[in-house]
Amino acid sequence: MSSSTVYLNGRFLPQEQAFVSVLDRGFVFGDGVYEVIPVYGGRLFRFDEHMQRLNNSLAAIRLDNPLEKTAWQTLLNTLVSKNGGGEQSLYLQLTRGVAPRDHPFPANTAPTLFASSNPLVPVDPALLARGASAITLEDTRWKHCNIKTISLLPNILLRQQALDANAQEAILIHDGLVTEGSASNLFIVSHGLIKTPPNGPFLLPGITRDLLLELAAANHIACQECNIDRHELLHADEVWIASSTRELLPITHIDGQPIGSGHAGPIWQTMNQLYQSYKQALIAGEVEQP
Ligand code: PDD
Repeated sequence: MSSSTVYLNGRFLPQEQAFVSVLDRGFVFGDGVYEVIPVYGGRLFRFDEHMQRLNNSLAAIRLDNPLEKTAWQTLLNTLVSKNGGGEQSLYLQLTRGVAPRDHPFPANTAPTLFASSNPLVPVDPALLARGASAITLEDTRWKHCNIKTISLLPNILLRQQALDANAQEAILIHDGLVTEGSASNLFIVSHGLIKTPPNGPFLLPGITRDLLLELAAANHIACQECNIDRHELLHADEVWIASSTRELLPITHIDGQPIGSGHAGPIWQTMNQLYQSYKQALIAGEVEQP
């Protein structure tokens, strides 16, 4: 298989030839932020929104964005076409650069800028048909979950705990309230109403989540951002998780109990159709691009 092309600090090169110093603060401290952007039909999905979230993450860790939006756009589109266009998953990461190991911010250090893209792995149709399982776990992360940081150890441990319990996702509980999945946002349907926890310091403002809220509003489907506790979660009619990589995935069992009928529900069907139509419109060039 031919190697994919990546971007590193101003150069496009084969992945095998891309190396970063062992003193990079991303490697040593996890001092950096990232984005994952899906690409459909060679077009970047919600580019503006991903750039806005990247800028928010950078501002939160006090790192300047070295590129203007149009430069990012050129860079990412070039990477996508070098890797064959079509359906891809773009990854980009910025770290605070290479410096002797010391906690304070280094002076006059250029950030490390890395981007890669790989074929998008579609969600397993069998999993989509049967629905996924989740377990609830105490949210052991910090108070800045709105930053898309590369320091993902708590998320990794929580996700692995779910996998070890034969579940696909961990649904996290903070102070008795549901926040999100270990790598996804969460929606429930309760008494016919779609609900999702409000944005804030305890969850990542997901691009998929925000699009679903937008699609629901545009189609006059009632949807509320509000607190959800574990009891309401377990007694919901439907539960779904949402992310760039897993799109909108029904969760049909939580902590070993069926959710609603134990099958993907009708409101998931409707929202998933709206989401898939949005993707098709993007591919057809009908969604306004920046
Ligand atoms: N993660 N919450 C967390 C903690 C996440 O890691 C993600 C996505 C989301 C959903 O965000 P979005 O809709 O923008 O993908 C919510 C990505 C896919 C990842 O880490 O690979």
